Amino acid sequence: MPSGFSASSPIGVFDSGIGGLSVLRHIRARLPHEHLLYAADSGFAPYGGKTEQAIVARTLAIAEFLLERGAKALVVACNTATGAALGVLRERYPALLTVGVEPGLKPAAALTKTHTVGVLATERTLAGARFALLHQQVAAATGVRFLLQPCIGLADQIEKGELRSAATAALVRRYVAPLIGQGADTLVLGCTHYPFVQPLIEDAVRRIAAQPVGIVDTGEAIARQLARLLAQHGLQRQTAVEGTLTAFTTGSRTSLATAFSNLLKLRPEVGRIAAEPEVEQ
Ligand code: DGL
Repeated sequence: MPSGFSASSPIGVFDSGIGGLSVLRHIRARLPHEHLLYAADSGFAPYGGKTEQAIVARTLAIAEFLLERGAKALVVACNTATGAALGVLRERYPALLTVGVEPGLKPAAALTKTHTVGVLATERTLAGARFALLHQQVAAATGVRFLLQPCIGLADQIEKGELRSAATAALVRRYVAPLIGQGADTLVLGCTHYPFVQPLIEDAVRRIAAQPVGIVDTGEAIARQLARLLAQHGLQRQTAVEGTLTAFTTGSRTSLATAFSNLLKLRPEVGRIAAEPEVEQ
């Protein structure tokens, strides 16, 4: 691992694509003075249908890229990559500060009144050993029933920028309806892409649920955890000057720039991740 980073070094944030922007917005709000590097592996997205081995390889490649740019900490802003690769990443870089994202089963268990929670996530996340352990532990400790719903194709729709299309709305309804039908009063957004279709999820819920339904997103908790970790290690950037934001992608730079502008109203410089062919979409 390249060494020599300091408190003024950047924080690397990574996702299979644009989903991590739902975490990045909380990191910027909580840590406005930090320099941030965002890497979207859009040339290889979505991860949800890929093998664990393929996701590990992509995660290590992107981590190396961010570490070469001096990252002092790495946020794996992707439930799927966290499930498949966080363990390997921590083994490879034992001294690196890493924060992963997991479906918010614990906060959901604290919220539900019907003791039934729906978990929306990618097929890979729900099939992984890391999630199985979390599921087992939280279910045993709380007695809550978790209904697991793989949302095949949903991250892809979001990646394409289809946040309000009829096709995306139909997909959302197809995944949400059975959960509400089985008594879920709380839904976990177990993929960082899904907060960007929260209005569609709320709309689907309104059509079928008799009672209000809580929605759990862990973006804010991740930002808090990152802030705590940096403070513990004396690695918070000490300045009153706002930090910079630079983005990189293995996919289309134009698509990533558009996503930043549409989703976060930001216009960072967008670079290409070297050694990968640019994929124009
Ligand atoms: N954003 C990702 C997650 O949190 C994965 C979406 C995908 O690439 O399938 O799981």
